[in-house]
Amino acid sequence: MITILGIESSCDDTSAAVIRDGVILSNVIAGQAVHERYGGVVPELASRAHQQNIIPVVHDALKQAAITKEEVSAVAFTRGPGLLGSLLVGTSFAKGFSSALDIPMIEINHLQAHVLAHFIKEDANDTNQPEFPFLCLLVSGGNSQIILVKAYDDMEIVGQTIDDAAGEAFDKCAKVMGLGYPGGPVVDRLAKSGNPDRFQFSKPHIAGYDYSFSGLKTSFLYFLRDELKKDAGFIENNKEDLCASLQKTIIDILMDKLHRAAKDLQIREVAVAGGVSANSGLRAAFEEYSRRQGWKIHIPKFAYTTDNAAMVAISGYYKYLDNQFCGPDVVPYARVSIG
Ligand code: KG4
Repeated sequence: MITILGIESSCDDTSAAVIRDGVILSNVIAGQAVHERYGGVVPELASRAHQQNIIPVVHDALKQAAITKEEVSAVAFTRGPGLLGSLLVGTSFAKGFSSALDIPMIEINHLQAHVLAHFIKEDANDTNQPEFPFLCLLVSGGNSQIILVKAYDDMEIVGQTIDDAAGEAFDKCAKVMGLGYPGGPVVDRLAKSGNPDRFQFSKPHIAGYDYSFSGLKTSFLYFLRDELKKDAGFIENNKEDLCASLQKTIIDILMDKLHRAAKDLQIREVAVAGGVSANSGLRAAFEEYSRRQGWKIHIPKFAYTTDNAAMVAISGYYKYLDNQFCGPDVVPYARVSIG
């Protein structure tokens, strides 16, 4: 029996989870409301909040899993990429936990963990995991990548954004409309009662499988500026249609390249991961591609879309099976690729 305690603290969510033999026993996440009034994550405040949250979050994760800390086989933690001060809290906690219980430590790449979230089993009979090789669209506030997943620890970037991430496009355009932060979920909610074909925004012409979202953001901004000159209430009176049209444009851009990559690489097993995978329009687009293109799709549970420790614990589980441990001298890294 292998029991992994996962720790995630890369940005503004403090999370701890317990996975036993690949099956989820608990996944506790503490968010940080302190950033809301600043319209974005403030790194120093994030580290301080992690320090306050980490002990109670781990305590709750062990309690919900109904295990004692002595039953943990190894502690897996996010080494990076992320905010250095935030990562330091999780890394230091993992070092203390591992040393006190004399159990191994496992370092986890946060981006790989998002992809491996698809391997979390809800119970021992859950067999809905992807088969290698598969493609994963990783879309979050900091990333938009198409990843070829060849094995648990062998991933290759096929395409990625050359400027803004998809989540950033949602958030920045939402900010222009005064919808608060993070704007992605608000755009999603308003889009449900809007007309996605009402407004057209520019789509990028980038070679290969790469993405670009900065042009969309600019075209959205200029469009609103011009309309507001004619009607000061333009945003308020049209926000549902604006959100629906913006969301459709972002999804079209994402799906077009993903479709091309899947076709060229002759892969029909396709997954989506990261914060933006919570988007209802993107989920519906995946379902549609599954019907029309015969894709076998993998859409994560909502709890595994944003940052969570369950994905860290499952990644740790597979590294444990492969004897991939790290020493106490390990340091976090702010930047690192998925490959
Ligand atoms: O993976 P994630 O939690 O962490 C970061 O990369 O920071 O992703 C957060 C991103 C934000 O940009 C947020 O607006 C976006 O995911 N997001 C959404 C939705 N839920 C979260 N975007 C569109 N629709 C949603 N329902």
